[in-house]
Amino acid sequence: MGLAATNPGADPTSRPSSDRVEDTDVRAPDGVGAVDLPTHCSPPLRAHTDEVEQRLLADPQLLDDIAEAVAGPFHVLFPERVSRNVRAFQAALTDTGVDGFVYFGKKANKAACVVRACAEAGAGVDVASTGELVAALAQGVRGADLMITGPAKSDELLWLAARHRALIAVDAVDELDRVAALGVPARVLLRVLPEGSTSRFGLTRPELEQAVRTIAPNGPITLCGFSFHLSGYDATARAEQAVELVGHCLRARSDGHPADTISIGGGFGVDYLDAVSWARFREALSAKWFHGSAPSGDYYPYHFPTPGAAMLTTVLTHNDLAAVLRENSIRVAVEPGRALLDRAGSSVFRVQGVKTRAAEGNPYDILTVDGTSLSLSEQWFDSEYLPDPVLWPHRPGDTTPTCVGATTCLESDLLSRRRIPLPRRARVGDLLIYPNTAGYQMDSNESPFHELPLPPKVVLRERADRLRWTLDATSR
Ligand SMILES: Cc1ncc(COP(=O)(O)O)c(C=O)c1O
Repeated sequence: MGLAATNPGADPTSRPSSDRVEDTDVRAPDGVGAVDLPTHCSPPLRAHTDEVEQRLLADPQLLDDIAEAVAGPFHVLFPERVSRNVRAFQAALTDTGVDGFVYFGKKANKAACVVRACAEAGAGVDVASTGELVAALAQGVRGADLMITGPAKSDELLWLAARHRALIAVDAVDELDRVAALGVPARVLLRVLPEGSTSRFGLTRPELEQAVRTIAPNGPITLCGFSFHLSGYDATARAEQAVELVGHCLRARSDGHPADTISIGGGFGVDYLDAVSWARFREALSAKWFHGSAPSGDYYPYHFPTPGAAMLTTVLTHNDLAAVLRENSIRVAVEPGRALLDRAGSSVFRVQGVKTRAAEGNPYDILTVDGTSLSLSEQWFDSEYLPDPVLWPHRPGDTTPTCVGATTCLESDLLSRRRIPLPRRARVGDLLIYPNTAGYQMDSNESPFHELPLPPKVVLRERADRLRWTLDATSR
C-alpha cells in the first residue's frame, strides 16, 4: 500500500499565524470521527496507550520536571507494562495446555529495566551479540534462560553461550562445526529455512540432514530441537511451519537425540491504532498530507486485530497445534520483541523552533525539536512512524496541521513528514511525546550524529501510589 513519492507542490511562503484557522476550516479532531480537515492535513492517528502513560500526560508537573532534569530529548519506559505483556504470553501457553517459554527479543530495546522486568516475570531473553548476552546476565537472566540467535555468531559469543548453558539456534553447518570445535558441551536448536523462502537465514533440508548426522547423540552437543523465524505477521504460516518442526523433532528422536523443543521465533503484531482511524488513513491516503515527499515504502500494519499474546493463541489453536505439541511432548519457545514492548515506552522531544509554511496556499507549521529521527527508526525505512505525537502541556487552541523536523542539518531528517492535526499551535518550549516507541523505534538506529548526546532512558514506576522516575541503568 505504499504511496509513490510525489511532491505535493509545496511552495513554502511564510504566513502570519493568525490567519491559519479562518483560512483552513480546521475542526478539532475530537474522537475518531473527525473528517473536516483541510486537504493538506492527515486525519488524526491517536495511539493506544498504557494507563501509566495517561497518568504521566495528565500530571501537571511530572513530565516537565523530568524534561528539566534531563535537559534534552529522552525516552520513558514503563517496565510494569512489559511484565503484563510477558504474563499475557505465558497465559496464552498455559490456557492452551502447552509447555512453553517466552524469550524477549532483546534487539527491540536496549533498556536494562525491560530485561529486568522479563527476568522477574520468568521470561528468558533472545540475544544476538556478546553485548546483549552480558547485558541480559547483568539483569538477572540465567544463562539457561538465554536463546542465542543471529547468523554466523562469533566464536566468543558461541563460547560464552555454551559456558552459560544457553540454547544456541545454529544457523549454518559451518557454525555447527565451530560450536563443536569449542570443546564445551552445548545445547543447540537447528534453524530451519522454510520451504520456498528466500531468507538468508536457516538451513536447507540437505543442510539440516547433514547437521543432524554431525551431532553425536551422546554429546558433547545436545540437539534440543529446531527453530524458525518468519518475517510478516501470518499466524497460519507459523502454525504450519511449527508442525513441520515437530516432524523434524520426531525424526531426530528416532536417531537418539532429545529434540523436545521448537522455537517459532518472533513476529507477533502490535495494535498501535484503532480500526476506524487506520481504515480512514489507508482509504484516503494522499501525497498532499506530507511535507516534501510522501514515504515511498509501505507502512507497518498499525492496526492489528489479534496482537501479541492473542496472536500466539491463534497460532496454537490453528488446526489444534497445541494438541500436536502436547501429544508429542514438545516444548514451544517464542521470541517476541516488539509485542512485549507494546505501550511500554514513549519518546519525548522539546520544541526548539516553529516556522509557518504553506502547501498550495494552505498554511501549516514545521517544528524543529531538540532530537533527531535516528531516535524514531521507522523514518529510516522509507516509511513513517504514524501514531500522532502528543503536544504537551494541554492548552486550548485551534487545530494546526504540523510536521516535525529534527535538529540536524539533513533535509530528510524529519520525525513526521506527515502533517498532523495538532490540537493547537506548538510553541517553543512545549514537549512532543511520540507514543509506543519502545519496540524498535527509540534505540535501534540511534546515533550520536552531530555529537548530540544519545537520549537517556527514564524509567517510570508506580511506588506508594505515586509515579516515581529514575534513570535506566543503561543511562546512568
Ligand atoms: C530470530 C528472531 N527472533 C525474534 C525476533 C523478534 O521479532 P519481533 O520483534 O517482530 O517479535 C527477530 C526479529 O528480527 C528475530 O530475527
